[in-house]
Amino acid sequence: MKILWNDQILEDSEVAIDFEDRGYQFGDGIYEVIRIYDGCMYMEKEHLDRLWVSAEKIRMVLPFTREELSQRLHRLVKEVGLANARIYFQVTRGVAKPRLHDFPDPKEVTPVLTADVQAVTRPAAKQNIGIRAGFVEDKRWLHCDIKSISLLGNLLALDEAKQKGYEEAVLVRDGFVTEASASNLWMVKNDILYTHPDGNLVLPGIAKIKIREIAKAFGLEVREEAFTREALLAADECFKTSSVAEIMPIVEIDDQKIGEGMPGKLTKKLLNAYIEAIQLTVQSHLNEK
Ligand SMILES: Cc1ncc(COP(=O)(O)O)c(C=O)c1O
Repeated sequence: MKILWNDQILEDSEVAIDFEDRGYQFGDGIYEVIRIYDGCMYMEKEHLDRLWVSAEKIRMVLPFTREELSQRLHRLVKEVGLANARIYFQVTRGVAKPRLHDFPDPKEVTPVLTADVQAVTRPAAKQNIGIRAGFVEDKRWLHCDIKSISLLGNLLALDEAKQKGYEEAVLVRDGFVTEASASNLWMVKNDILYTHPDGNLVLPGIAKIKIREIAKAFGLEVREEAFTREALLAADECFKTSSVAEIMPIVEIDDQKIGEGMPGKLTKKLLNAYIEAIQLTVQSHLNEK
């Protein structure tokens, strides 16, 4: 398997992550996942923008320009040669010896970049029938806007839901729904779309940006306001969004049907439009080549 390691592309067996890499010891790093369709990185600019925002929020100075990072990612995607995939890349604060909590001097310690590409296909079967979720108390930290590699809070939430037999966790903080364990959460009530506003309690999703655009084009009202667990249970439709899951209907929460207990009509309409938007972008990328 090929791995991007800083500016080199190597076999995974040749990559040597240092024991004192701060990502390994502290989870001190940030990451992104970009979906690749027909060899094109979808919404690359938005993902890179978010990486730079995350870096700023954790006071990390990235050791490359956007162009340099983009070139390296494209090189890896080309070398791996998978048409439908995702690229995962992370940047840790680097190797600082000995292990100390203090952030190291950025003039002395350089952040470490790694990336891999794995095949991914649209989860079409699940998108057709939807998934079953369970409510889980959102006990994560208060910097959920940072795409941090420290995902233990999210993993614990997902595991709690799975242990109860559900496929996903719908996170609830102080009675209000925030997001799912690795996606943003939406509900539809009386043809109005609701989702938690961006801020420190949710990740500002890239798929969310696209849904806003599509909803606008359809003339659908989007209200970015927090809603309660009870409001969600009384909703007509519910779905989650992420770059990899795209739009995934949630048809039951805590064994209670949402709407008819099937993917809703607006959810399906948005998903079709989302897929069309991808196809248009990919086509225009391919035409440019
Ligand atoms: C906690 C969380 N919220 C939302 C998202 C959706 O983000 P995006 O649409 O950029 O994939 C993710 C994606 O990994 C996530 O981990």
